[in-house]
This record gives sequence, structure tokens and C-alpha cells, in this order.
Amino acid sequence: MAKKIERTMKESYSVLAQEVMPMQANPAGNVHGGEIIKLMDSTAGVAAMKHAHTNVVTARIAEINFKKPIHIGELVTCKAQVIYVGRTSMEIFVTVESENLISGEKQIALTAFFTMVSLDKNGNPAKVPALSLEGAGEYEKKLYKEGEKRYNMRGGRKK
Ligand SMILES: CC(C)(COP(=O)(O)OP(=O)(O)OC[C@H]1O[C@@H](n2cnc3c(N)ncnc32)[C@H](O)[C@@H]1OP(=O)(O)O)[C@@H](O)C(=O)NCCC(=O)NCCS
Repeated sequence: MAKKIERTMKESYSVLAQEVMPMQANPAGNVHGGEIIKLMDSTAGVAAMKHAHTNVVTARIAEINFKKPIHIGELVTCKAQVIYVGRTSMEIFVTVESENLISGEKQIALTAFFTMVSLDKNGNPAKVPALSLEGAGEYEKKLYKEGEKRYNMRGGRKK
């Protein structure tokens, strides 16, 4: 099959969910931040692989904003989507929703931006398909613009 040269944001959309267990929390019942970041990292990795169709590694995690606490027994749902791509890197926006399974109440507990780098079979950075904005809404276009700004601020596309 011929390699695709571009993919839409929607094609990378990925969701992973998990119920919070007591061993993932402190004695007061609040989940450890690292537990959630691990799930976010996995979700971002799946989204990046859906875009690149290669192995990927995490290069950067930015703007982790813990907005609300998450407690034992709640369902944590991570949603990730590629929002910008450079040459070999991809920025993925990850949101985490927590749901109290008794009351049904849902809230956005945290968000973050992950930069994942596509690797070839020898472990070297590999070019990724372009990101198409076809079918993207205003919010996604805003995320793309912000991602582009962050990438350029880091000195992207020098090579
Ligand atoms: C990420 C990694 C592959 C980059 O390798 P490198 O030799 O620096 O490669 P390059 O300089 O060619 O950079 C490759 C891309 O990564 C991006 N990049 C590298 N480090 C970055 C960082 N800290 N933040 C954001 N982007 C980064 C570059 O901007 C470049 O993007 P582009 O091709 O889209 O312009 C390498 O640093 C690595 O293997 N890091 C460890 C990754 C890992 O093990 N993660 C798991 C967590 S421990």
C-alpha cells in the first residue's frame, strides 16, 4: 500500500479510559498525578502512531494543568488528537475527563500538550505525513495555530 502523504486531525483521534484503583491514589483517595500522566502519554502515543504509522517517542510534555482532583472509583477518559506536525515531530493535545460513576457528574480534570517524535526502523527521527485541516472546526484550527506558534518558538523547521 502506498504511504499516505497527509492525514486529517480526526484520523488521529484516540480515546483510552480506566477506572481509578486504590493503589493509584494517596491515603486521602486522590489519584497520583503521575498515574494520569502515564495514561495521557499512552493516549498521545496512540494518536501519534495513528498519524505517523511508525514507532514514536515522547520528546516533551508541556502545560500540564491539573484543574480538578480525581478520586478512587472514578472513570478517567483521555482523549488525544494530533493538532500540529513539524518534519518528524507531532504535537498532540490531550484532555482528561473524570466521571463519578455514581452521580454521573463529568468534568475536565486536566489537559496537556505532548510532543512525540516519529522514529524509523533504526531509531532515527522519520518524516511524518502533513496534517490536513479538512473537516476541522474553529477550535481545532485555533489549536493548530497555537501549535505552529509553539513549534516556531522552539526553532522548528530549521533543517
Ligand atoms: C526525541 C528524540 C528522538 C529527538 O532526537 P534528536 O536527535 O534531537 O533529533 P532531531 O534534533 O532531529 O529532532 C527531531 C524532532 O524532534 C523535535 N524535538 C527534539 N527534542 C524536542 C523537545 N525537547 N521538545 C520538542 N521537540 C523536540 C525537533 O524539533 C525535531 O522536530 P521536527 O523534525 O518536526 O522539526 C531524542 O531526543 C530521544 O530519543 N529522546 C528520548 C525520548 C524518550 O525516550 N522518551 C520517553 C520518555 S523517557
